[in-house]
Amino acid sequence: MKICMVGTGYVGLVTGACFADMGNTVVCVDIDTDKVAGLNRGEIPIYEPGLSEMVTRNRKAGRLGFTTDLDAAVNSSLFCFIAVGTPQGENGGADLRAVLSVAAAIGRTMNDYKLIVTKSTVPVGTAAKVEAAVKEQIDKRGLDLEFSVASNPEFLKEGAAIEDFMKPDRIVVGCDDEKGGGLLRDLYSVFCRTSDRLLAMDVKSAEMTKYAANAMLATRISFMNEVAAICDKVGADIAHVRVGIGYDPRIGSKFLFPGLGYGGSCFPKDVRALINTAAENGIAAEVMQAVDVVNNRQKAVLFARAGEVIGDLGGKIFAVWGLSFKPKTDDMREAPSLVLIKHLLANGCHVRVYDPVAMEEARKELGDRVEYMADQYDCLNGVEALFLVTEWGEFREPDFARMKSLMKSPLIFDGRNQYEPSRMRDKGFEYYCIGRNND
Ligand SMILES: NC(=O)c1ccc[n+]([C@@H]2O[C@H](COP(=O)([O-])OP(=O)(O)OC[C@H]3O[C@@H](n4cnc5c(N)ncnc54)[C@H](O)[C@@H]3O)[C@@H](O)[C@H]2O)c1
Repeated sequence: MKICMVGTGYVGLVTGACFADMGNTVVCVDIDTDKVAGLNRGEIPIYEPGLSEMVTRNRKAGRLGFTTDLDAAVNSSLFCFIAVGTPQGENGGADLRAVLSVAAAIGRTMNDYKLIVTKSTVPVGTAAKVEAAVKEQIDKRGLDLEFSVASNPEFLKEGAAIEDFMKPDRIVVGCDDEKGGGLLRDLYSVFCRTSDRLLAMDVKSAEMTKYAANAMLATRISFMNEVAAICDKVGADIAHVRVGIGYDPRIGSKFLFPGLGYGGSCFPKDVRALINTAAENGIAAEVMQAVDVVNNRQKAVLFARAGEVIGDLGGKIFAVWGLSFKPKTDDMREAPSLVLIKHLLANGCHVRVYDPVAMEEARKELGDRVEYMADQYDCLNGVEALFLVTEWGEFREPDFARMKSLMKSPLIFDGRNQYEPSRMRDKGFEYYCIGRNND
Protein backbone atom coordinates (compact mmCIF):
# COMPACT_ATOMS: atom_id res chain seq x y z
CA MET A 1 0.00 0.00 0.00
CA LYS A 2 1.11 3.59 -0.58
CA ILE A 3 1.58 5.66 2.54
CA CYS A 4 2.51 9.27 3.14
CA MET A 5 3.74 9.91 6.70
CA VAL A 6 3.81 13.60 7.58
CA GLY A 7 6.12 14.34 10.49
CA THR A 8 9.38 12.43 10.79
CA GLY A 9 9.93 12.50 14.54
CA TYR A 10 9.94 9.67 17.08
CA VAL A 11 6.51 8.48 15.96
CA GLY A 12 6.50 9.26 12.22
CA LEU A 13 9.97 7.89 11.55
CA VAL A 14 9.39 4.67 13.49
CA THR A 15 5.91 3.98 12.12
CA GLY A 16 6.95 4.93 8.59
CA ALA A 17 9.93 2.57 8.76
CA CYS A 18 7.82 -0.24 10.25
CA PHE A 19 5.12 0.09 7.58
CA ALA A 20 7.86 0.00 4.92
CA ASP A 21 9.38 -3.07 6.56
CA MET A 22 6.06 -4.83 5.95
CA GLY A 23 6.39 -4.20 2.20
CA ASN A 24 4.42 -0.97 1.92
CA THR A 25 5.79 2.02 0.02
CA VAL A 26 6.24 4.91 2.44
CA VAL A 27 7.19 8.52 1.81
CA CYS A 28 8.01 10.46 4.96
CA VAL A 29 7.50 14.21 4.80
CA ASP A 30 8.90 16.86 7.12
CA ILE A 31 9.21 20.63 7.07
CA ASP A 32 12.63 20.38 8.66
CA THR A 33 14.85 20.49 5.58
CA ASP A 34 18.02 19.61 7.53
CA LYS A 35 16.36 16.54 9.00
CA VAL A 36 15.14 15.37 5.59
CA ALA A 37 18.56 16.00 4.01
CA GLY A 38 20.21 14.03 6.82
CA LEU A 39 17.77 11.14 6.45
CA ASN A 40 18.48 11.08 2.73
CA ARG A 41 22.18 10.75 3.60
CA GLY A 42 21.31 7.86 5.90
CA GLU A 43 21.62 9.84 9.15
CA ILE A 44 19.05 8.96 11.81
CA PRO A 45 18.15 12.05 13.86
CA ILE A 46 17.10 10.18 17.01
CA TYR A 47 18.44 7.33 19.09
CA GLU A 48 16.04 4.38 18.94
CA PRO A 49 17.30 0.77 19.13
CA GLY A 50 17.08 -1.01 15.75
CA LEU A 51 15.78 2.02 13.87
CA SER A 52 18.92 2.83 11.91
CA GLU A 53 19.17 -0.71 10.49
CA MET A 54 15.48 -0.74 9.59
CA VAL A 55 15.62 2.64 7.84
CA THR A 56 18.75 1.66 5.91
CA ARG A 57 17.26 -1.68 4.84
CA ASN A 58 14.05 -0.13 3.55
CA ARG A 59 15.72 2.83 1.86
CA LYS A 60 17.94 0.40 -0.02
CA ALA A 61 14.90 -1.63 -1.05
CA GLY A 62 13.28 1.56 -2.39
CA ARG A 63 10.30 1.27 -0.06
CA LEU A 64 11.14 4.22 2.20
CA GLY A 65 11.89 7.78 1.13
CA PHE A 66 12.17 11.21 2.73
CA THR A 67 11.07 14.51 1.28
CA THR A 68 9.89 18.01 2.02
CA ASP A 69 7.55 17.84 -0.96
CA LEU A 70 4.17 17.19 0.68
CA ASP A 71 2.20 17.62 -2.55
CA ALA A 72 4.02 14.82 -4.37
CA ALA A 73 3.93 12.56 -1.30
CA VAL A 74 0.19 13.03 -0.81
CA ASN A 75 -0.65 12.51 -4.44
CA SER A 76 1.35 9.31 -4.70
CA SER A 77 -0.35 7.80 -1.63
CA LEU A 78 -3.70 6.46 -0.51
CA PHE A 79 -3.02 6.82 3.24
CA CYS A 80 -1.97 10.21 4.61
CA PHE A 81 -0.81 9.87 8.22
CA ILE A 82 -0.37 13.00 10.30
CA ALA A 83 2.34 12.39 12.91
CA VAL A 84 3.50 15.92 13.68
CA GLY A 85 4.04 17.28 17.17
CA THR A 86 1.19 18.44 19.41
CA PRO A 87 3.10 20.30 22.13
CA GLN A 88 1.51 21.94 25.10
CA GLY A 89 -0.24 25.13 24.05
CA GLU A 90 -2.13 27.81 25.93
CA ASN A 91 -3.99 26.80 29.12
CA GLY A 92 -2.26 23.41 29.00
CA GLY A 93 -4.28 22.36 25.93
CA ALA A 94 -2.65 20.68 22.92
CA ASP A 95 -1.30 23.02 20.26
CA LEU A 96 -2.94 21.76 17.08
CA ARG A 97 -1.43 24.25 14.66
CA ALA A 98 0.89 21.75 12.99
CA VAL A 99 -1.83 19.10 12.67
CA LEU A 100 -4.31 21.52 11.14
CA SER A 101 -1.77 23.11 8.82
CA VAL A 102 -0.93 19.64 7.47
CA ALA A 103 -4.65 18.90 7.07
CA ALA A 104 -5.08 22.13 5.09
CA ALA A 105 -2.03 21.33 2.97
CA ILE A 106 -3.49 17.91 2.13
CA GLY A 107 -6.79 19.55 1.16
CA ARG A 108 -4.95 22.03 -1.06
CA THR A 109 -3.18 19.33 -3.05
CA MET A 110 -5.14 16.04 -3.07
CA ASN A 111 -6.65 15.04 -6.36
CA ASP A 112 -8.47 11.83 -5.50
CA TYR A 113 -9.71 9.82 -2.51
CA LYS A 114 -7.41 9.92 0.53
CA LEU A 115 -7.66 8.33 3.94
CA ILE A 116 -6.33 10.96 6.35
CA VAL A 117 -5.23 9.40 9.62
CA THR A 118 -4.28 11.35 12.73
CA LYS A 119 -1.52 9.50 14.54
CA SER A 120 -0.49 12.48 16.64
CA THR A 121 -2.04 12.58 20.09
CA VAL A 122 -4.93 15.01 19.74
CA PRO A 123 -7.89 16.02 21.93
CA VAL A 124 -11.38 14.76 21.29
CA GLY A 125 -12.92 16.73 18.46
CA THR A 126 -9.72 17.14 16.46
CA ALA A 127 -10.79 14.75 13.69
CA ALA A 128 -13.75 17.03 13.05
CA LYS A 129 -11.35 20.00 12.83
CA VAL A 130 -9.09 18.05 10.46
CA GLU A 131 -12.06 17.19 8.29
CA ALA A 132 -13.20 20.85 8.22
CA ALA A 133 -9.67 22.05 7.35
CA VAL A 134 -9.37 19.59 4.45
CA LYS A 135 -12.86 20.31 3.17
CA GLU A 136 -12.36 24.08 3.30
CA GLN A 137 -9.40 23.79 0.93
CA ILE A 138 -11.16 21.37 -1.42
CA ASP A 139 -14.17 23.72 -1.52
CA LYS A 140 -11.89 26.67 -2.29
CA ARG A 141 -10.66 24.76 -5.31
CA GLY A 142 -14.25 24.21 -6.40
CA LEU A 143 -13.81 20.44 -6.30
CA ASP A 144 -15.87 17.66 -4.81
CA LEU A 145 -13.35 15.06 -3.61
CA GLU A 146 -14.10 12.15 -1.33
CA PHE A 147 -11.91 11.55 1.72
CA SER A 148 -12.08 9.79 5.09
CA VAL A 149 -10.67 10.96 8.40
CA ALA A 150 -9.59 8.48 11.05
CA SER A 151 -7.92 8.53 14.44
CA ASN A 152 -5.19 5.97 14.99
CA PRO A 153 -3.35 6.99 18.16
CA GLU A 154 0.10 5.57 18.71
CA PHE A 155 1.08 3.64 21.85
CA LEU A 156 4.74 2.93 21.14
CA LYS A 157 7.27 3.55 23.90
CA GLU A 158 10.51 5.33 23.08
CA GLY A 159 13.39 2.91 23.63
CA ALA A 160 11.24 -0.05 22.55
CA ALA A 161 9.37 1.68 19.74
CA ILE A 162 9.99 -0.84 16.96
CA GLU A 163 9.07 -3.83 19.10
CA ASP A 164 5.93 -2.03 20.29
CA PHE A 165 4.85 -1.14 16.78
CA MET A 166 5.62 -4.52 15.27
CA LYS A 167 4.01 -6.46 18.13
CA PRO A 168 1.35 -4.11 19.43
CA ASP A 169 -0.69 -4.98 22.49
CA ARG A 170 -3.55 -3.24 20.72
CA ILE A 171 -4.20 -1.11 17.66
CA VAL A 172 -6.86 1.53 18.16
CA VAL A 173 -8.68 2.64 15.03
CA GLY A 174 -11.36 5.26 15.21
CA CYS A 175 -13.22 5.85 11.99
CA ASP A 176 -16.80 6.86 11.46
CA ASP A 177 -17.02 5.61 7.86
CA GLU A 178 -16.78 2.07 6.61
CA LYS A 179 -14.42 2.69 3.72
CA GLY A 180 -11.72 4.31 5.88
CA GLY A 181 -12.14 1.78 8.69
CA GLY A 182 -11.85 -1.11 6.24
CA LEU A 183 -8.69 0.28 4.66
CA LEU A 184 -7.03 0.69 8.04
CA ARG A 185 -8.01 -2.86 8.99
CA ASP A 186 -6.34 -4.07 5.76
CA LEU A 187 -3.21 -2.01 6.42
CA TYR A 188 -2.86 -3.36 9.95
CA SER A 189 -3.83 -6.96 9.16
CA VAL A 190 -0.14 -7.96 8.96
CA PHE A 191 0.33 -6.88 12.56
CA CYS A 192 -2.68 -8.92 13.70
CA ARG A 193 -1.73 -12.34 12.32
CA THR A 194 -1.21 -14.04 15.69
CA SER A 195 -4.17 -12.43 17.37
CA ASP A 196 -6.52 -9.72 16.22
CA ARG A 197 -5.81 -6.81 18.48
CA LEU A 198 -7.34 -4.13 16.29
CA LEU A 199 -9.98 -2.28 18.24
CA ALA A 200 -12.39 -0.47 15.94
CA MET A 201 -14.35 2.33 17.52
CA ASP A 202 -15.76 5.76 16.80
CA VAL A 203 -13.31 8.60 16.24
CA LYS A 204 -13.96 10.43 19.51
CA SER A 205 -13.48 7.31 21.61
CA ALA A 206 -10.18 6.59 19.82
CA GLU A 207 -8.95 10.13 20.51
CA MET A 208 -9.99 9.80 24.16
CA THR A 209 -8.43 6.33 24.57
CA LYS A 210 -4.93 7.69 24.04
CA TYR A 211 -5.30 10.38 26.71
CA ALA A 212 -6.98 8.02 29.15
CA ALA A 213 -4.14 5.51 28.69
CA ASN A 214 -1.40 8.06 29.32
CA ALA A 215 -3.28 9.65 32.22
CA MET A 216 -3.73 6.23 33.85
CA LEU A 217 -0.02 5.41 33.50
CA ALA A 218 0.95 8.83 34.84
CA THR A 219 -1.44 8.31 37.74
CA ARG A 220 0.27 5.05 38.71
CA ILE A 221 3.62 6.81 38.77
CA SER A 222 2.46 9.75 40.87
CA PHE A 223 0.58 7.39 43.17
CA MET A 224 3.71 5.32 43.78
CA ASN A 225 5.81 8.44 44.31
CA GLU A 226 3.35 9.66 46.90
CA VAL A 227 3.30 6.27 48.67
CA ALA A 228 7.12 6.25 48.57
CA ALA A 229 7.23 9.63 50.31
CA ILE A 230 4.96 8.26 53.03
CA CYS A 231 7.15 5.14 53.30
CA ASP A 232 10.18 7.29 53.99
CA LYS A 233 8.39 9.08 56.82
CA VAL A 234 6.86 6.04 58.49
CA GLY A 235 9.77 3.61 58.11
CA ALA A 236 8.31 1.31 55.43
CA ASP A 237 10.17 0.13 52.32
CA ILE A 238 8.50 0.93 48.99
CA ALA A 239 10.30 -2.04 47.37
CA HIS A 240 8.33 -4.43 49.59
CA VAL A 241 5.13 -2.46 49.25
CA ARG A 242 5.41 -2.43 45.46
CA VAL A 243 5.69 -6.20 45.26
CA GLY A 244 3.04 -6.63 47.91
CA ILE A 245 0.44 -4.74 45.92
CA GLY A 246 1.60 -5.89 42.49
CA TYR A 247 0.58 -9.50 43.07
CA ASP A 248 -3.03 -8.39 43.24
CA PRO A 249 -4.21 -9.06 39.67
CA ARG A 250 -6.52 -6.05 39.88
CA ILE A 251 -3.40 -3.90 40.35
CA GLY A 252 -0.69 -5.78 38.45
CA SER A 253 3.04 -5.32 38.87
CA LYS A 254 3.86 -3.11 35.90
CA PHE A 255 4.50 0.60 36.07
CA LEU A 256 4.68 0.72 39.84
CA PHE A 257 8.24 1.97 40.22
CA PRO A 258 8.76 5.15 42.20
CA GLY A 259 11.36 7.53 40.87
CA LEU A 260 12.00 11.13 40.00
CA GLY A 261 8.66 11.68 38.29
CA TYR A 262 7.61 11.08 34.73
CA GLY A 263 9.00 13.19 31.90
CA GLY A 264 9.20 12.86 28.16
CA SER A 265 7.21 14.32 25.34
CA CYS A 266 3.92 12.64 26.22
CA PHE A 267 2.79 12.14 29.80
CA PRO A 268 3.28 15.71 31.08
CA LYS A 269 1.59 17.39 28.14
CA ASP A 270 -1.09 14.74 27.72
CA VAL A 271 -2.16 14.89 31.38
CA ARG A 272 -2.41 18.67 31.10
CA ALA A 273 -4.27 18.48 27.79
CA LEU A 274 -6.82 16.14 29.32
CA ILE A 275 -7.23 18.48 32.30
CA ASN A 276 -7.84 21.24 29.76
CA THR A 277 -10.38 19.20 27.78
CA ALA A 278 -12.19 18.43 31.04
CA ALA A 279 -12.21 22.10 32.03
CA GLU A 280 -13.54 23.13 28.63
CA ASN A 281 -16.40 20.76 29.29
CA GLY A 282 -17.13 21.98 32.81
CA ILE A 283 -15.30 19.21 34.66
CA ALA A 284 -12.54 19.81 37.19
CA ALA A 285 -10.22 16.84 36.59
CA GLU A 286 -9.04 16.75 40.19
CA VAL A 287 -7.32 13.38 40.10
CA MET A 288 -5.26 14.40 37.09
CA GLN A 289 -4.49 17.81 38.56
CA ALA A 290 -3.07 16.05 41.60
CA VAL A 291 -1.08 13.67 39.37
CA ASP A 292 0.54 16.70 37.71
CA VAL A 293 1.23 18.48 41.02
CA VAL A 294 2.80 15.36 42.60
CA ASN A 295 4.91 14.82 39.50
CA ASN A 296 6.30 18.35 39.49
CA ARG A 297 7.13 18.06 43.17
CA GLN A 298 8.81 14.69 42.64
CA LYS A 299 11.29 16.06 40.14
CA ALA A 300 12.83 18.14 42.94
CA VAL A 301 13.01 15.52 45.73
CA LEU A 302 16.65 14.51 45.21
CA PHE A 303 17.75 18.10 45.20
CA ALA A 304 15.85 18.73 48.45
CA ARG A 305 17.37 15.59 49.99
CA ALA A 306 20.86 16.73 49.01
CA GLY A 307 20.24 20.04 50.76
CA GLU A 308 19.15 18.23 53.93
CA VAL A 309 22.17 15.94 53.91
CA ILE A 310 24.92 18.33 52.78
CA GLY A 311 23.64 21.72 53.85
CA ASP A 312 24.94 24.53 51.66
CA LEU A 313 25.52 23.12 48.15
CA GLY A 314 27.08 26.30 46.71
CA GLY A 315 30.50 25.94 45.10
CA LYS A 316 30.48 22.14 45.35
CA ILE A 317 30.99 19.70 42.47
CA PHE A 318 28.29 17.13 41.68
CA ALA A 319 28.02 14.29 39.19
CA VAL A 320 24.83 13.37 37.35
CA TRP A 321 24.50 9.94 35.75
CA GLY A 322 21.78 9.82 33.13
CA LEU A 323 20.11 12.74 31.36
CA SER A 324 17.41 11.40 29.04
CA PHE A 325 13.94 11.14 30.51
CA LYS A 326 14.29 7.35 30.47
CA PRO A 327 16.85 4.82 29.25
CA LYS A 328 17.31 3.77 25.61
CA THR A 329 16.33 7.13 24.21
CA ASP A 330 18.04 10.49 23.73
CA ASP A 331 14.78 12.36 24.30
CA MET A 332 15.32 15.17 26.81
CA ARG A 333 11.83 16.65 26.70
CA GLU A 334 10.64 17.37 30.27
CA ALA A 335 13.44 15.15 31.61
CA PRO A 336 13.69 15.16 35.43
CA SER A 337 17.47 15.60 35.04
CA LEU A 338 16.89 19.11 33.73
CA VAL A 339 14.98 20.14 36.85
CA LEU A 340 17.68 18.76 39.15
CA ILE A 341 20.54 20.30 37.15
CA LYS A 342 18.85 23.69 36.97
CA HIS A 343 18.38 23.67 40.76
CA LEU A 344 22.04 22.75 41.25
CA LEU A 345 23.22 25.46 38.86
CA ALA A 346 20.95 28.07 40.47
CA ASN A 347 22.62 27.20 43.78
CA GLY A 348 26.10 27.81 42.44
CA CYS A 349 27.13 24.17 42.01
CA HIS A 350 29.50 22.82 39.39
CA VAL A 351 27.73 20.01 37.56
CA ARG A 352 29.38 17.17 35.64
CA VAL A 353 27.11 15.00 33.54
CA TYR A 354 27.30 11.70 31.73
CA ASP A 355 24.72 9.94 29.56
CA PRO A 356 25.44 7.17 27.04
CA VAL A 357 23.40 8.78 24.23
CA ALA A 358 21.62 11.99 25.29
CA MET A 359 24.49 14.46 25.79
CA GLU A 360 24.09 16.07 22.39
CA GLU A 361 20.37 16.62 23.01
CA ALA A 362 21.10 17.84 26.54
CA ARG A 363 23.56 20.39 25.20
CA LYS A 364 20.72 22.05 23.26
CA GLU A 365 19.03 22.78 26.58
CA LEU A 366 21.96 23.21 28.98
CA GLY A 367 24.63 24.64 26.68
CA ASP A 368 28.01 25.08 28.35
CA ARG A 369 26.61 25.49 31.84
CA VAL A 370 27.53 21.91 32.74
CA GLU A 371 30.61 19.81 32.07
CA TYR A 372 29.97 16.88 29.69
CA MET A 373 32.04 13.80 30.46
CA ALA A 374 32.78 11.02 27.98
CA ASP A 375 33.02 8.39 30.72
CA GLN A 376 30.81 7.61 33.70
CA TYR A 377 33.80 7.26 36.04
CA ASP A 378 35.62 10.42 34.90
CA CYS A 379 32.44 12.16 35.91
CA LEU A 380 33.08 11.22 39.55
CA ASN A 381 36.52 12.74 40.07
CA GLY A 382 36.45 14.74 43.30
CA VAL A 383 32.68 15.10 43.45
CA GLU A 384 30.75 15.81 46.61
CA ALA A 385 28.01 13.36 45.57
CA LEU A 386 26.55 11.43 42.65
CA PHE A 387 22.96 11.83 41.49
CA LEU A 388 21.69 8.80 39.57
CA VAL A 389 18.85 10.10 37.43
CA THR A 390 18.27 7.74 34.47
CA GLU A 391 18.44 3.98 34.95
CA TRP A 392 20.67 3.06 32.01
CA GLY A 393 21.86 -0.58 32.17
CA GLU A 394 25.51 0.41 32.62
CA PHE A 395 24.68 2.08 35.96
CA ARG A 396 23.14 -1.09 37.40
CA GLU A 397 26.33 -2.83 38.48
CA PRO A 398 29.15 -0.28 38.33
CA ASP A 399 32.60 -0.69 39.85
CA PHE A 400 31.73 0.59 43.32
CA ALA A 401 35.29 0.43 44.63
CA ARG A 402 36.46 2.58 41.74
CA MET A 403 33.61 4.99 42.32
CA LYS A 404 34.53 5.34 45.97
CA SER A 405 38.17 5.95 45.19
CA LEU A 406 37.24 8.75 42.80
CA MET A 407 34.56 10.60 44.76
CA LYS A 408 35.44 13.20 47.39
CA SER A 409 32.83 11.62 49.64
CA PRO A 410 31.00 8.31 49.03
CA LEU A 411 27.56 9.88 48.80
CA ILE A 412 24.90 8.76 46.32
CA PHE A 413 21.43 10.13 45.69
CA ASP A 414 19.65 7.55 43.58
CA GLY A 415 16.43 8.68 41.92
CA ARG A 416 15.78 5.26 40.37
CA ASN A 417 16.34 2.83 43.26
CA GLN A 418 19.05 0.96 41.41
CA TYR A 419 20.87 -0.46 44.42
CA GLU A 420 20.07 -2.33 47.60
CA PRO A 421 20.46 0.16 50.50
CA SER A 422 21.98 -2.42 52.88
CA ARG A 423 24.53 -3.48 50.24
CA MET A 424 25.50 0.13 49.64
CA ARG A 425 25.97 0.68 53.36
CA ASP A 426 28.18 -2.43 53.53
CA LYS A 427 30.27 -1.01 50.73
CA GLY A 428 30.75 2.16 52.72
CA PHE A 429 28.44 4.47 50.82
CA GLU A 430 26.00 6.95 52.27
CA TYR A 431 23.06 6.12 50.05
CA TYR A 432 19.68 7.81 49.60
CA CYS A 433 16.96 6.65 47.24
CA ILE A 434 13.18 6.91 46.89
CA GLY A 435 10.98 5.39 49.60
CA ARG A 436 13.65 3.06 51.01
CA ASN A 437 15.56 5.28 53.38
CA ASN A 438 14.85 3.56 56.65
CA ASP A 439 17.12 0.64 57.15
N1 LIG B 1 7.27 10.32 21.20
C1 LIG B 1 6.47 9.35 21.63
O1 LIG B 1 6.89 8.42 22.34
C2 LIG B 1 5.02 9.35 21.24
C3 LIG B 1 4.26 8.20 21.46
C4 LIG B 1 2.92 8.20 21.09
C5 LIG B 1 2.36 9.33 20.54
N2 LIG B 1 3.11 10.45 20.37
C6 LIG B 1 2.49 11.62 19.74
O2 LIG B 1 2.88 11.64 18.37
C7 LIG B 1 3.02 13.00 17.92
C8 LIG B 1 4.43 13.20 17.38
O3 LIG B 1 5.32 13.01 18.45
P1 LIG B 1 6.90 12.89 18.21
O4 LIG B 1 7.51 12.60 19.53
O5 LIG B 1 7.15 12.02 17.04
O6 LIG B 1 7.22 14.41 17.79
P2 LIG B 1 8.59 15.00 17.24
O7 LIG B 1 8.66 16.38 17.77
O8 LIG B 1 9.70 14.05 17.51
O9 LIG B 1 8.39 15.03 15.66
C9 LIG B 1 7.47 15.84 15.03
C10 LIG B 1 7.97 16.07 13.61
O10 LIG B 1 6.96 16.77 12.88
C11 LIG B 1 7.60 17.72 12.05
N3 LIG B 1 6.62 18.75 11.68
C12 LIG B 1 6.10 19.73 12.44
N4 LIG B 1 5.23 20.46 11.72
C13 LIG B 1 5.19 19.91 10.48
C14 LIG B 1 4.49 20.22 9.29
N5 LIG B 1 3.63 21.23 9.26
N6 LIG B 1 4.71 19.45 8.21
C15 LIG B 1 5.58 18.42 8.25
N7 LIG B 1 6.28 18.08 9.35
C16 LIG B 1 6.09 18.84 10.45
C17 LIG B 1 8.75 18.23 12.88
O11 LIG B 1 9.73 18.85 12.10
C18 LIG B 1 9.23 16.94 13.56
O12 LIG B 1 10.20 16.29 12.77
C19 LIG B 1 2.67 13.86 19.12
O13 LIG B 1 1.31 14.20 19.06
C20 LIG B 1 2.93 12.95 20.30
O14 LIG B 1 2.15 13.30 21.43
C21 LIG B 1 4.44 10.46 20.69
